[in-house]
Amino acid sequence: MPTKNDEYARPATPPDSSNLSTVREAAENCTACHLYQRATQTVFGEGPKKATIMLVGEQPGDYEDVAGKPFVGPAGKIMDRALEEAGLDRKEVYVTNAVKHFKWEPRGKRRIHQKPNSREVAACRPWLEAELRIVRPKLLVVLGSTAGQAIFGPSFRVTRERGKVLSSKLALKVVATVHPSSLLRQPDEESRHREYKNFVADLRVAITAADAD
Ligand code: URA
Repeated sequence: MPTKNDEYARPATPPDSSNLSTVREAAENCTACHLYQRATQTVFGEGPKKATIMLVGEQPGDYEDVAGKPFVGPAGKIMDRALEEAGLDRKEVYVTNAVKHFKWEPRGKRRIHQKPNSREVAACRPWLEAELRIVRPKLLVVLGSTAGQAIFGPSFRVTRERGKVLSSKLALKVVATVHPSSLLRQPDEESRHREYKNFVADLRVAITAADAD
């Protein structure tokens, strides 16, 4: 039984099924790392099985942990708006996270987001691989460094690679961009506007590349 000590994180073992519901149900009981102990529930990916684009974030946040759905909080709202501006309806894409339990620390009555470490990402990776195997998107959009490193390894830097069409063993086409929550943390209106436009531009690169053969 894994404990709070990260050293006990071991890879999850999804069923070898092409049915998303079967895999999602199995993920509900995942104890591959200790994060399940504090999270309300597993937040599995969501979207059409035939989606041509899959978006991967870091991990569910406070809102997602309660709702059991990915990207339904403030970061999700700004992502949905940017997707629409780039020409894509959120309902058409499959949205998931590199880590499927909310990692947090208590601070008073608040639950403060903690970045998942590489062992937690590795323990959860088989679920992401299962989603990729079943959905087989034409293109993967990685949102932020945790998702980027889950796909490309620890030396991956979003700042260096964003907005390019890359390739990986897990998906033929991958476009990296910033995490939408970084748009909410911008210090002033001008940088918020600039970073939002850059985010939309990266999403447009992804949509164009997904449409190409
Ligand atoms: N941030 C993420 O990376 N994923 C979510 O689902 C919500 C916020």
